[in-house]
Amino acid sequence: MTKRALLFSYFLVLFLPLSAQTISISTDHTQLVLQVNSQKRLCQTYLGERLSEQTDLSQLEMPQAGLSSSCIRGLEVYPVMGTEDYYEPTFEIHHADGNPTSVLKYVKHSQQGNETSIVLRDEVYPVDVTLYYKVFEREDIIQQWAEIRHEEKGKVYLGRYASSMLYFEAPNYYLTEFASDWAKEMQMLDQELKFGKKVVDSRLGTRANLMAQPFFEVGLGGPVRENEGTVLMGTLGWTGNFRFTFEVDNQHILRVVSGINHDASTYLLKKSDTFRTADFFFTLSQNGLGEGSRRFQRWMMNHQLHKAKDDRMTLLNNWENTYFDFNEEKLVALFSEAKDLGVDLFLLDDGWFGNKYPRKDDHAGLGDWQVTQDKLPQGIPYLVKKAKENGVNFGIWIEPEMVNPKSELAEKHPDWLIQLPSRDTYYFRNQMVLDLCNPKVQDFVFSVVDDLMQENPEIKFMKWDCNSPITNIYSPYLKENQGNLYVDYVRGLYKVLDRVQAKYPDLYMMMCSGGGGRSDVTGLRYFTEFWCSDNTDPIERLFIQWGYSHFMPAKAMCAHVTEWNRRASIKFRVDVAFQGKLGFDIGLKGLSNDDRQYCREAIKEYKRLKEVVWSPNLYRLVSPYEGQHCVVQRVNDSKDKSIVFAYDIHPRYGESLLNTRLQGLDASAKYKVKEICLMPGKQSWLPCNNKVYTGDYLMKVGIKVTSTNDLVSHIIEVMKE
Ligand code: DGJ
Repeated sequence: MTKRALLFSYFLVLFLPLSAQTISISTDHTQLVLQVNSQKRLCQTYLGERLSEQTDLSQLEMPQAGLSSSCIRGLEVYPVMGTEDYYEPTFEIHHADGNPTSVLKYVKHSQQGNETSIVLRDEVYPVDVTLYYKVFEREDIIQQWAEIRHEEKGKVYLGRYASSMLYFEAPNYYLTEFASDWAKEMQMLDQELKFGKKVVDSRLGTRANLMAQPFFEVGLGGPVRENEGTVLMGTLGWTGNFRFTFEVDNQHILRVVSGINHDASTYLLKKSDTFRTADFFFTLSQNGLGEGSRRFQRWMMNHQLHKAKDDRMTLLNNWENTYFDFNEEKLVALFSEAKDLGVDLFLLDDGWFGNKYPRKDDHAGLGDWQVTQDKLPQGIPYLVKKAKENGVNFGIWIEPEMVNPKSELAEKHPDWLIQLPSRDTYYFRNQMVLDLCNPKVQDFVFSVVDDLMQENPEIKFMKWDCNSPITNIYSPYLKENQGNLYVDYVRGLYKVLDRVQAKYPDLYMMMCSGGGGRSDVTGLRYFTEFWCSDNTDPIERLFIQWGYSHFMPAKAMCAHVTEWNRRASIKFRVDVAFQGKLGFDIGLKGLSNDDRQYCREAIKEYKRLKEVVWSPNLYRLVSPYEGQHCVVQRVNDSKDKSIVFAYDIHPRYGESLLNTRLQGLDASAKYKVKEICLMPGKQSWLPCNNKVYTGDYLMKVGIKVTSTNDLVSHIIEVMKE
């Protein structure tokens, strides 16, 4: 062949689309290859590190799956219930004639820009499933969802509607899940996955992540490690019930099914309507969890988090300081404390509303969003004005999806409440959930924000709380279609949040759910930040923040300094909160002068360094799960600024202290190491303080940043010379 012909054939391979039957989906480092087999079934033939030569795709073999080697299907991308597959399916449909299954065959696909869509069709029933893949190349994240549609006359029900099925082949598989409870969010638990199934799911509806968080990690070929090994990290973007199923089959293939939890949610899908599943996002890191976390954080900052590029406000909250016991005078005094502290915003929490049933505690008033006249006679406008006079912005707490039975709202609209018609009602925190499937209720929930904003256009921030799961699962609005409730509730919520965002694009909002009961990445398309936990004991927070940092950027993680664990100094408490989106929820009058001074200085330092604190380049250097210390590091993109956060939790007697090796620096550059945020009058005793090192030295030899004392913390600035 002439040189020219050779070159031509090379370009042909490179630029011509692959055959209609091979679909390649890739990011900078990961590749997913799908192929259509002789039975027109769509199968996964590769998922792993991106192949260098696209010509190699033709070498991929169609794996056999299922019960025997004669199985016709291969590793089917969207397997259905009730046909050949023995394992957990992604899709289940009940046709109008009662037939409980479908066979989905490839029809066509298209690839435009970073999006791929693949149409599958049942040849017997008018049912289409379109699979979507969106790649975020630079961040190495793949997004998957499906759209389901039918043209049948009569009632068609969806029994299952997962977003994704992925297959892996490795010698062994280790799952990390993030178990939770109130004040115990993101407890990382590991286990080996052997033959059979492990399900991680939620069925709490509104406060969906109370017991389990919608994230997982799987070590492929060994337990997950921070800097080595292949690891799959995934999350479902859905502010409601989710389900991840990990199943190791008879051929030792791991199947990972992710989607909305279909339990109690057999969905009536109307003819010609499109059912869009939730979004599943995953990354496949070849260099351990650290790299996967940096990818997720970068992706959140570039594509997902609401107002990700905008600043965030430090704040003083009154919840743990006053609880429900406040009045105008007390609040105005707190505004001046906020000013003295140097924060940007004062956040008024629960307890400002209700007249017939004033919100004196959590037994009454939810739903009646009018200011309590005898508590705050001059209303919210007066508070906004007074805050402004003190040089701070004003923010306010709402819980608009909920209602106390003791409220005017519940009396007026009993048909707006989710409750079983024929059974005793179970109350969680003395409250019930409004039926967001109902458009009238959606209007009402929107009006809670809208009325406040209309009256007080200068409100800058809302804390949107959600303290109850859906406990009495019956929607008066949906009547006989109760299976749609959990899904339509979330869709109703998104409709409201879409309206809020469209009308008030500058409003900052915290997603809160009795702590971290809501923490999904699609919720954060509407909220600028989320409340990680009511547990602000700094030791517990080291674990909770460590957990969330696997997926979430620091800018979105609200971290407040409170009275939890007074054994820890104010410095230790502030230094832990400094890692996230810093706030205070504490009575400042109770602090010593030195402690108050420390807080003021720390806020100034935080404001000076927040771009580094919020950088997605996170290096987790020493894990709190080892028990004694915790060290994490952030580096900005240009590698000229870095911050090291070091905490001694409970060092062992006689423990020999190791150097901590930094990461992510420029090896050839010189850096000055300086401890900042010192208590008034105190000097740093770190041996590395004020010294200059090469990046190479800091990363290979390291520095001592831990001690043998309980509850000691250091914030260390590492600046390029
Ligand atoms: C639960 C939240 O997590 C708290 O921060 C506080 O806002 C209370 N609700 C108020 O009722």
